[in-house]
Parts: sequence; C-alpha cells; structure tokens
Amino acid sequence: MPDIRISPRGVACPWLSWIRWSRLIGLFLLCLFMVAVISHIYLTDINSDPTDGQKLRIPLQTDEDESQIRKLNQEIKSLRKIKASVNNELRDMESKRQKLQSQISGYQKQIDILSAQIETSEKEIKSTQLTLEQLKLEKSEMDKQYLPILKAPIKMLMGENSNIKLPMPFDGQRCKMHSCFDFSRCSVFSGFPVYFYDSEKDLNIGELVPFLKNGIDEYFEENLYRTFDPSTACIFVAIVGQQINRITYSGLEKSLEKLPFWHGDGRNHILINLMRDENADIDIFGGANTGRAIIVQSPFVKTIFRSEFDIVIPPNVGKAFGDVWEELPPISPIRRKHFLSFIGSFKGKVQFQNGEQTDEQISNVEDSVISFLKNIQLKLDPEIFIKFSCDTIIPGAINGEYSMCQSDESRHELLKQSTFALIISPANESYVSTNIFQLRFYEALKYGAIPVILGDQVTLPYMEILDWKKATVILPKARLTEFHFILRTFTDTAMATMRRTGRYYFETYFSSTQSILDTALALIRTRLNIPPAPISDMKSPSVFDNNSYVDYKYEEVNPENDEILGPLEAVFPSVKFSNNFTQNVFYHKFTQTGDPFRNYPFTPFEHVLPSESKFIGSGYGFRPIGKGEGGAGKEFSEALGGNLPREQFTLVMLTYERSNVLITALQRLKGLPFLNKAVVVWNNPAPPTPDLKWPDIGVPIHVIKTTKNSLNNRFLPYDVIETEAILSIDDDAHLRHDEIVFGFRVWREERDRIVGFPGRFHAWDVKNNAWLYNSNYSCELSMVLTGAAFFHKYYAYMYSYVMPAAIREKVDEYVNCEDIAMNFLVSHITRKPPVKETSSQGDITMDIPLPRLPTDIIQ
Ligand SMILES: *[C@@H]1O[C@H](CO)[C@@H](O)[C@H](O)[C@H]1NC(C)=O
Ligand SMILES: *[C@@H]1O[C@H](CO)[C@@H](O)[C@H](O)[C@H]1NC(C)=O
Ligand SMILES: *[C@@H]1O[C@H](CO)[C@@H](O)[C@H](O)[C@H]1NC(C)=O
Ligand SMILES: *[C@@H]1O[C@H](CO)[C@@H](O)[C@H](O)[C@H]1NC(C)=O
Repeated sequence: MPDIRISPRGVACPWLSWIRWSRLIGLFLLCLFMVAVISHIYLTDINSDPTDGQKLRIPLQTDEDESQIRKLNQEIKSLRKIKASVNNELRDMESKRQKLQSQISGYQKQIDILSAQIETSEKEIKSTQLTLEQLKLEKSEMDKQYLPILKAPIKMLMGENSNIKLPMPFDGQRCKMHSCFDFSRCSVFSGFPVYFYDSEKDLNIGELVPFLKNGIDEYFEENLYRTFDPSTACIFVAIVGQQINRITYSGLEKSLEKLPFWHGDGRNHILINLMRDENADIDIFGGANTGRAIIVQSPFVKTIFRSEFDIVIPPNVGKAFGDVWEELPPISPIRRKHFLSFIGSFKGKVQFQNGEQTDEQISNVEDSVISFLKNIQLKLDPEIFIKFSCDTIIPGAINGEYSMCQSDESRHELLKQSTFALIISPANESYVSTNIFQLRFYEALKYGAIPVILGDQVTLPYMEILDWKKATVILPKARLTEFHFILRTFTDTAMATMRRTGRYYFETYFSSTQSILDTALALIRTRLNIPPAPISDMKSPSVFDNNSYVDYKYEEVNPENDEILGPLEAVFPSVKFSNNFTQNVFYHKFTQTGDPFRNYPFTPFEHVLPSESKFIGSGYGFRPIGKGEGGAGKEFSEALGGNLPREQFTLVMLTYERSNVLITALQRLKGLPFLNKAVVVWNNPAPPTPDLKWPDIGVPIHVIKTTKNSLNNRFLPYDVIETEAILSIDDDAHLRHDEIVFGFRVWREERDRIVGFPGRFHAWDVKNNAWLYNSNYSCELSMVLTGAAFFHKYYAYMYSYVMPAAIREKVDEYVNCEDIAMNFLVSHITRKPPVKETSSQGDITMDIPLPRLPTDIIQ
C-alpha cells in the first residue's frame, strides 16, 4: 500500500475515511468469526455426547430423566438451529468481506490514477505558466510597437493635359526617365498595368514576321501585367517585328503618331524591336523621331542611344517559350580543349605589312590587334584558337567589325570546346552595340564559353540590372598585350562561377522571346520602383469541404512526450511580403537568389540583425534564451532563442492508402511545440473512409484533396502553408519531439538549406561510368532526404514553378527521386550542402527504398 499523504490542512480525503472504516469492519468480522468458531466447537462437543453416553452406563431412567432428556434434546435442536443460522451469517459476512476487499482494491487503483493525474496537472501548470509568460511578452510587444499605422499614399493621377504635346527636353539634354516619363500613370501601388498594342492593326506598318506572330499573342495572353483598359495603363507596348526594309523613317514616324494613345509625343511608350534577321542592318528606329518612347532593341548607335532610358536586349534568336536546358552543354569540365577561341573575318579595309590583304589601312588599332593575336597563338599559347578568315560569312557586320562565319555547327562546336570566347568590339566607336556583337555574346553564353570582351565602349544587354562582371571579362583594347596574362591567372573556381552565372543569365533573361520581353518589362518596372506581381500559391481544397464527403471526427489523444521542449503558443503565421518596398524588391541587381519576375512572401536569404540589436531597440518578436543571460536545459526549453524573431513551422505529410499509419503519425504530434499546422496531402483518389477518427492534436489538421497522385505534390506551395519553415515528413518516419524541435532550431540558423535526418551519399562511379547512390553510413554525405527534413517554403515555389518541368516529369515517371531533385535544386541555388542531423537511433529507420538512379536526371 502506498504512503497515504494527508493534505496539510488535515482534512482527510473521503477515500481515507473509507479505508479506516474498512479496517474497523475487518476487525469486527474477525471477532464474529472467532465467536462462531468457538460456539461451533462447543456444539460439536455436545452433539457427540450420545455416543459418549453409550459408553457410559446410565443407571436409571426415570420420568424425570426422560423429561430432562427431552428438554436437552430440544435445547440441542435449538442450538443446531442457531448453528445453522450462524453458519449462514458467516457465509454472508464472508461474501461481504470479499466485496469490501474488491472495493478497497478499486479505490487503490483510483488513488494511483489520481496521483498520475496530479503529476500531469503539475506539468500542465508548468507549461501553462510558460504559455502565459509568452502571452505577456506578446502583449508587452504589442504595447511597445511604435510603428505608425501604414496607409497607402494617395494614388498619383494622370496629368490633366495628357494629350498636350509637351516640349521635348532641349537639344543636347536627351531623354531620361525624369524628363520624358510620366510617372503619374504608374503609382507604386498600381501593379504596373501594361497595355499591349496590336502590332499589326495599331502600328500599321506591315505584317509581323511569322515566327513572332503566334508567339507574341500567346505571350500577351499569359502576361501578368496586361490591362485592356488604356486609361489605367502605366506603359504602352508596341512590338516591332515587320519586314522593316520596306518602310521609310518618315513612314514609321507617321505610323507612330497614329498610335491611339501616343499623345503627341509617345510618353510611356515602349517600342520593342524583336527582329531577328542578321542580314539586315535593323536599327529601324535609328533615323526616326520616336519622341519620348523608350526604345528596346539590340543594335544602337551612340548618337541615338539614351543611356538609362533606352534598353539594349539580346538578339531574339531563341525559341518563343520554354526551357532551353537541352540545348546547353554541361558546365563541367571547367577547362575545355581551347583556352580561348576566336573566329571571324574583319570587315573593312585593312592592310597588313605582310600583304595578306591589300586594302587601304583604316585602323592601326585593329591592325595591331590582329597581328598580336596571331602572334600569341603561334608563339605563346598553343591552347588558343584564333582564326581571321571564314569560308562564308554572316552578312550584317558593320564596317570595322569582325563578321561571323556562316557555318553554325562549327561555330557552336568551337564555343563548346572553349573555356573563354574572345569578342572584339567594333572598331567604329560610335556604335554602342551591334547585331553581330550581341549575337557573338549570346552564343558564347549559350555554349558556356566565358565571354572576354576587348573594347569596353560597348553596352551589354540589361546592363542596368545584371552584374555582368560576374559572368564576363571586359577589358579596354589598350590591355591587348596583358589580357592573356590576366586570363591565365583565373582559377578553376573563378571560371566555374563565371560560367555558371553566365548560364543562369542566359537561361533566365536571354533564352526565349518570352524571357527577353519579361526582362525588359521587369527592368522598366524596377526603374519605377513598383514591386512585381506576387507569386501565386497553390489552392488546397480540403477532402472534407464537400458535404457528401465524410465527416471530420476528432478524437482526444494523450501527448506522447512528457518533457517540456518549448512554449506551447497559439498558432500564428509568418510575416508575409514585408519587403514590397525595401531594398530587396525596390532596387536591386537581378541575382539568382532573387527572382525579379515575382514577389515572394518571404525568402530564405534575408540577413539577420546584429546580435545586440534584439536587446537594444529592435527586440520585437525575439525570444532570447534566459532573457539574454543564456542558461541550461530549463531556460533553453522555455525560449526559442536565435537571432531571428519567433516563428512556427508547418508539417507536410504525403499519404497514400495507409490511414492507420497516418493517424498514428498524427497522434504523435500532440503537444509538439512550434507546430503551426499539420498538412496532409491526400494522394489517394478515394477520400478517407467515414469511420476514420482524426486525432485532436491541438493545432489544425488540413487534409488536401489532390488532383493527381504525384510525389511532386509533396513540394507544392499550398496556400494553407503559412509559415516559412516546412517540415516534410513521411508517415512512417518516427521522430521524437525533441528531435523535431532540435531540427527546427538548427534550421532557423541555416534557413537557406535543407536540414534533416536521413542522409544519402552520391558520387561518380568511375568503374561503371554511372552514378553511385547509397545510404551506407559513410562519413561523406551529400543529401538529406525529405522524408524527414525542414526546408523553406521558397523552395516549394522554386520546385514547382521555376525548376525545369522535365525534372518533375521524371519524378512522376520513376515514382521516386523527388528528394534527390529537391536536394539538387536547393544546392543549385545556394551552392551549399544540406545539413544532416543525427537522431537518437543513429539514423532514423525508414523504409525508403533506394531508387534506381536515373543518370540523366543528374547530368
Ligand atoms: C562610324 O559609324 C558611324 C555611324 O554609322 C558613321 O557615320 C561613321 O562614318 C563611321 N566611322 C568610320 C570611321 O567608319
Ligand atoms: C505587398 O505585396 C503583397 C502582394 O502584392 C500584398 O498582398 C501586400 O499587401 C503588400 N504589402 C504592403 C505593405 O504593401
Ligand atoms: C461533392 O462530391 C460529389 C461526389 O464525390 C460530387 O458528385 C459533387 O460534384 C461534389 N460537389 C462539389 C460542390 O464539389
Ligand atoms: C554500400 O551500399 C551498397 C548498396 O546499398 C552496397 O552495394 C555496398 O557494398 C555498400 N558498401 C559498403 C562499404 O558497405
């Protein structure tokens, strides 16, 4: 029997008095029992008397004796009766005793249960106290917030006299945004509405060339910024892609003035020249008066080009839409057959001393360029490939420029085998950009030869927003004698970085008509400080939304864990779109870790505050451990800590036909700190059965109805995911709460990586000429599978919208490898490996089969 504690005030609990009573009753029963036994023995003695009497000789039997005997007999009878009744009573007593005994043990059990309850209540009190403290903190934070209440500024209005022809900036001061652009049409809240002209009907200078005709219409239809209402439009876009040779500059001017919203001077108009005819000198706007319109094209003469106003774009020679990865060579090997290559024939009149060509000399500079390069190839560096003649040339080069050789195949093959590609800018310095120069630059990037531009007077495409120094080497011609030395000092790492950046720029901003137009519009939008359109979340219809579906049943479960691992807070989402008008979106160079085309609610690349600021003035939302004094286990489990404000994570679980496993997995989540929501991706076309009981785990469980059974659903950016952190977990992966919370804390410090438990290793198997992939517990790991891992929601957008569709298709084809794709994607963007955590069992047990690794996914 356990120690019975009397409460301090001395008030005995009811069950305690019961116990005393039961003891008394026990004693009483014992006494009764003794009395009964004694009388029984006595009576038995009397009973046996007659037999004894036979042995005794009874002398005489008188009447008196007889009556006495009768009396005695009667007494015996009555005593027998008494005995029987006592016996009965004894039996009753015994059964009562047993009943009481079982009652006693029942109470004993209750005592045990209650004392267990006391323990859990005490724990609950502790965690409630923690929660209360959190709430107090939150309240004090709310009170302390001095943020002014933000209201959108009053919208700018269009100038009243928007039809009046304003004087152009006086001669010599050419158009800039501030002098030629009407900002009143483009409030920062306007969302950048774009009105697209019908290039044939509205511009009326002939038909578009066929390859543009279809592509352009489709582009307009899918454009996020398109408006059909010209009165609200910020900019008006006219695409030019006609056979322009047939029209005159004055004819073009007349056509422009007839554009319905030209307003006399073409303010806020964007004229985009997408011709792709290398044969024609297609600076079609060169001699025409285009007023205040922004001109977007490849070739530009210095006298026409208005820097920071007009835009240089790459030549439109790719496809209309879509991914181009199939056309591109691999990044590796870094060093290729030729260290540097150049092929082209100089157009112009050059005379060499050795008499190779007999035209008159026009440029000493080009003369020395050519002879120096020839020299360097012959005498210094045999890995250089330079050729100054072609069998047939691509026409269209201007005087003083190197024509390109006609045979595409050999030109492209040469670039694929070159580490660097030399591009010599035109000798005539009055050109800012030419078609041939841009084509060379385009092809070098496409085939992974790092462009080396000799002659720094040229303007590269989108120079305003792309940091070309990361992908090209640009040197003035005066560095002719030194550039070879400079290039030879490049390390493999530097070359790989440049090639990769070039590849990224090419794929994102050059590769198709769509990407060229998108980038040109994004550039103008960035100039106007208007944030891009927000990225769209995936709708997440619940399997329970439809009434004819099953009901949603909740069942109470007990928490699995008895440790306190963190405060149990109310659920709250992560802060979204806090950077609409700050540095990240407002003005920035377009980089790989920041998609310029869409506005993301949050990214994993934001910098943290200095470590002291959470104590000095910027403490909103921060939860320093031990209020900044640090501490051990207790303090650690009471605060999230870190250099970032508090936050929560969403659990995403993919499930297919394993309801019981799923329900058990969900039950285990009860009481998990920092959990915002459990999202179950129901990959099964049949809805859950009606008798399935869903556990009540203290946070919402959202079960998403999918349209297709696909492993890619695991990474869809569902709108119900409201936190930056996603914990992707398989239904059969058993992680303890402390492991999950530890993983979350680590992820907070490594937000741009995958942080998780099951590690894998991949390498190139030289013997078999294939990829090796295994889960042996080696010391070298390269992946963390998403069967139990944290990652940022940004990567869900990247996986679903930005990563080439072919990879997702392979995942569907193999019904596997989605975690390999995710690992490679994240590392591709960040250039960082994932973070592997060790779990309690060394490595968690999961029945993830090793996939047959399709080599073409990784290559
Ligand atoms: C350079 O080009 C401009 C524009 O086409 C032309 O006017 C000029 O004559 C050229 N200069 C030379 C030296 O060819
Ligand atoms: C930022 O942009 C998003 C998406 O357009 C919008 O939902 C949000 O309200 C904006 N926030 C502010 C402060 O303007
Ligand atoms: C609800 O589900 C039933 C059966 O699956 C379907 O026929 C019906 O169209 C659904 N209704 C809605 C509003 O989705
Ligand atoms: C590693 O795993 C692979 C396949 O799972 C197996 O073939 C190989 O022998 C293992 N290597 C070691 C060193 O255990």
